[in-house]
Amino acid sequence: MATITFIESDGTAHAIEAKCGWSIMENATKNGVPGIVAECGGSQTCGTCRIYVSAEWQTKMDSPTADEVSIIEFAEDRTPGARLSCQIEMKEHLDGLIVRMPEKQYSM
Ligand code: FES
Repeated sequence: MATITFIESDGTAHAIEAKCGWSIMENATKNGVPGIVAECGGSQTCGTCRIYVSAEWQTKMDSPTADEVSIIEFAEDRTPGARLSCQIEMKEHLDGLIVRMPEKQYSM
């Protein structure tokens, strides 16, 4: 087990026990974290699972694929560190991960 802390735009934090092997999105939705809508269920088509990852944590993750970048750009989200949480697999070395969430998720 590892932990992830999700921080809403108003500063409300949700710390969860995360399951490695699941995506960040799956960990959020299965633990009732508000703000991760995930309309497409993780098929990388809706863009409603956006999170913001700090530069420090980004260095510990795989870079986003071109498809992931295109979905984020389509959502016109220019926030640094914007990622689709369904495309990031939780791994042991990400224990303690802290991510921020947008004020609102925009569906494609
Ligand atoms: S859940 Fe739809 S893009 Fe991530």
